[in-house]
Amino acid sequence: MEIAVLEQISQRMLALPADFPRPWVTLKAGVSLDGKVATSGGESRWITGEAARGAGHRLRALHQAVVVGIGTVLADDPQLTVRQGQPQLPGPARVVVDSTARVPLQAKALAPDGSRRLVVCGSQAAPDRLAALAELGVEVLQAPTPRPAPEWFLPRLRQTGLASLLVEGGPRLHASFIAGGFAHEVFLFMAGMVLGEDAPGWCGPLEGGTLSQAPRLCLSAPVRVEEDLLVHGVFAPFQPSRPSSPSHPIPRPAAP
Ligand SMILES: NC(=O)c1ccc[n+]([C@@H]2O[C@H](COP(=O)([O-])OP(=O)(O)OC[C@H]3O[C@@H](n4cnc5c(N)ncnc54)[C@H](OP(=O)(O)O)[C@@H]3O)[C@@H](O)[C@H]2O)c1
Repeated sequence: MEIAVLEQISQRMLALPADFPRPWVTLKAGVSLDGKVATSGGESRWITGEAARGAGHRLRALHQAVVVGIGTVLADDPQLTVRQGQPQLPGPARVVVDSTARVPLQAKALAPDGSRRLVVCGSQAAPDRLAALAELGVEVLQAPTPRPAPEWFLPRLRQTGLASLLVEGGPRLHASFIAGGFAHEVFLFMAGMVLGEDAPGWCGPLEGGTLSQAPRLCLSAPVRVEEDLLVHGVFAPFQPSRPSSPSHPIPRPAAP
């Protein structure tokens, strides 16, 4: 199933100057109608239907790397590979953001398949963990702080040749990208189910709290993806035709 707003992503990426020092960042999640990514008990497979999951694979193929936080690896053990359409070899790089490099060595996201695999960790990651990852052929980016911050690792990922990232969660990682003003757009595949207030939402904690400070997106028309809906938005600072209003100052595009 071809979805125009998804296929046009490359054109939107081109709006970034060629020398922009960070990758294009797309956020993606499969959510319930109340924006939740898992049940309160942690069950998340599957919220959306097969067609939406197929579109998710297409999104992966349109990016140079797929990124998740360690919480998602530990909860879901995702492969992060493209498994629909034309086989893509090598596939997009797979990146795990993991302060202490505690990612299990047998995690599917690290399984060798010819694509690049990276772990972004913090200053306190144990050297023996880093050595074990290197042994597996995993590239390690170690930040100078205990928790790797996007403002540190995004330019480094760009320098290693990764110009576009699909960030597939979880909520805490999404929140970090949004809070820093690093996210360009969002694709939410929304299922006709509700999971209630104890279930985690697709975006974790954000500081602020007033409507005027809330990050704003310019929404596209929702698209039906079989039984689900695709809700897509571009963060206001990155919407070329509608520059952000001074009354909505967050998130600003972080300075290059
Ligand atoms: N439905 C969906 O589409 C979908 C997609 C993904 C995940 N999920 C669900 O989301 C849940 C996991 O989400 P989560 O929020 O707990 O985990 P997460 O966002 O995948 O990972 C968060 C963890 O990453 C590490 N981290 C390192 N640097 C970070 C940074 N700069 N910003 C944020 N995190 C950083 C932190 O742990 P350390 O400091 O310990 O490294 C943090 O707790 C699971 O229930 C999973 O099933 C659902």
